[in-house]
Amino acid sequence: MTVPTDRQCVADQLKIGSELLYLTRQDVERLALTREDILELTRQALVEHGHRRYEMPAKIGVHPYDNVFYHAMPAYLPGPGIVGMKWIECYPDNPQRFDLPQTTGLLVLNDVDTGVPVAVMDSAWLTAMRTPAVTVLAAAALHPDATTFGMFGCGVQGIEHVRYAAVALPRLKNVYVYDTNKAAADALIAMLQPELDLRIILGESPEAVTKSAEVLSSATVILRDPLAVVKDEWVTAGQTILPCDLNTFWDPRTARRADKYIVDSIEEHQLFASMGYFPDGLPEVAAETGEVLAGVKPGRERAEEIIVNSNIGMAVCDIAVGHAIMHRALGRGVGVRLPL
Ligand SMILES: NC(=O)c1ccc[n+]([C@@H]2O[C@H](COP(=O)([O-])OP(=O)(O)OC[C@H]3O[C@@H](n4cnc5c(N)ncnc54)[C@H](O)[C@@H]3O)[C@@H](O)[C@H]2O)c1
Repeated sequence: MTVPTDRQCVADQLKIGSELLYLTRQDVERLALTREDILELTRQALVEHGHRRYEMPAKIGVHPYDNVFYHAMPAYLPGPGIVGMKWIECYPDNPQRFDLPQTTGLLVLNDVDTGVPVAVMDSAWLTAMRTPAVTVLAAAALHPDATTFGMFGCGVQGIEHVRYAAVALPRLKNVYVYDTNKAAADALIAMLQPELDLRIILGESPEAVTKSAEVLSSATVILRDPLAVVKDEWVTAGQTILPCDLNTFWDPRTARRADKYIVDSIEEHQLFASMGYFPDGLPEVAAETGEVLAGVKPGRERAEEIIVNSNIGMAVCDIAVGHAIMHRALGRGVGVRLPL
């Protein structure tokens, strides 16, 4: 799937300037973009980013409580002519306290020629999809022959990470999963084992998982002070580590001694560091994820390299996926038109 570019397609379906398309989470899901679609859309957005064909200020945020954040994530991709912004919330206690997801939000898309809003949609689904897409695109670039994958955190992101890893890593045989809430890991296995042609194994401990997998990812919680659950001593030559939760889960020494520390956005990581998220300082960055995918900078150069690739999430990926969702919805008559 390529990023749709034709403004006329939108203008044919929508009275630009007097109405916008509103898509609920259910609408977004029933449009049924496949994981392959999302991988391709995300890859294109990362390549644009790697070639510096974007405008995307680092996400700004507000923090009503200590452990929560709201992020405003605007972006512009001049190539396909997409502009928009995701407004996303992360409340780690939501599942226990309110039986609500940790992450919720909305995406707004605008008409780049006139600026007027053309669509507003739930962004929880696309966030759940584009985040693992970034992780596994990077995994496939940095460690294409991996047969083992370890996933820390078995919530929304963990589940999709395992599904996406199965698509993007063709030699994958064993997936190890671990969650402090064992019920979440058990539920992941019960849900995914029947649908995936690989073995999903309940990890005994973070140490056991770290020592079993070539490629590892984490999607747990994002905290200012690292939990350092995975000790640096457990990490060995040749491993690829792909955190989605900044530096929270990993011993900060690992990122510092890694042969390459790659991030999706240097600016985003610097902003988080300025807010106190890397109390030991941001490790030296070798490349951005998009630069590796675009072939602008090298990824893995030696089998024994330890590579840490932190992807905190980029609005360019959100708007690329959201734009494709909007086009499909307009084409299929899905969603509600609201007057502006
Ligand atoms: N990088 C990105 O682009 C991006 C995008 C979305 C979410 N996230 C982050 O990913 C994380 C997970 O999001 P989610 O929507 O899957 O949340 P979720 O609540 O659905 O799942 C999180 C899981 O992690 C588990 N967990 C918490 N602490 C743990 C620990 N110390 N060890 C092992 N497991 C632990 C929880 O029990 C839960 O099952 C959050 O921190 C979120 O901010 C990152």
